[in-house]
Amino acid sequence: MKIGINHLRFSLLSDDSEIGSFACSDEDLNSFLKDDAKKYQQERMARTYLTHYKTNLVGYFTLVNDNISTREVEEEDRQNWFLHSKYPAIKIARLATCSVFERRGIGRNMLKMSVNIALQNISQYSGCRIITVDSKKDALEFYRKYGWRIAIRKRGDTIPLYRDFYKMENR
Ligand SMILES: CC(C)(COP(=O)(O)OP(=O)(O)OC[C@H]1O[C@@H](n2cnc3c(N)ncnc32)[C@H](O)[C@@H]1OP(=O)(O)O)[C@@H](O)C(=O)NCCC(=O)NCCS
Repeated sequence: MKIGINHLRFSLLSDDSEIGSFACSDEDLNSFLKDDAKKYQQERMARTYLTHYKTNLVGYFTLVNDNISTREVEEEDRQNWFLHSKYPAIKIARLATCSVFERRGIGRNMLKMSVNIALQNISQYSGCRIITVDSKKDALEFYRKYGWRIAIRKRGDTIPLYRDFYKMENR
């Protein structure tokens, strides 16, 4: 059964957060949380948010500042009055759901929370219009489902995606 956003608890990672139990299907994402996330946070390189369902740590996502070249977004997403070469952005640097809780709506709700943070917090203090992610190939359809578009840029192992969250939330 799907878990609604009201049943999830989101909190900022802290020095005493218990993260040892987290296991998603991607080892790099497991080791980032266990070995690096606290240091990144202390050093102001990233902010990581934990997602709990009851007493279980079911997911996490990590945000960093970003920008995206105006040429990398679709023509219809361009703001022609804006005479700069890059749009200010925020990036989902990591996002993962614990394997045993996959397909229960946790990922979708973490995307929603990321957009809420961008819209209601970050963009209230500093210019920020676009949310970006470098998607793993297996996760592409997950993002596409929620209106993310492929950035016009060479792909590597990951696929660069973006979403104009301000436009989408104000339609
Ligand atoms: C990709 C990932 C975050 C999805 O999390 P999740 O909690 O299972 O996602 P949700 O349950 O919220 O899924 C929302 C919708 O997307 C669909 N979906 C989820 N993962 C998908 C995938 N890999 N491909 C296609 N559709 C997917 C679900 O079926 C669901 O659709 P529905 O509401 O019609 O049933 C999770 O599988 C994961 O952590 N994978 C390993 C790490 C990873 O790839 N992270 C992304 C890094 S860019």
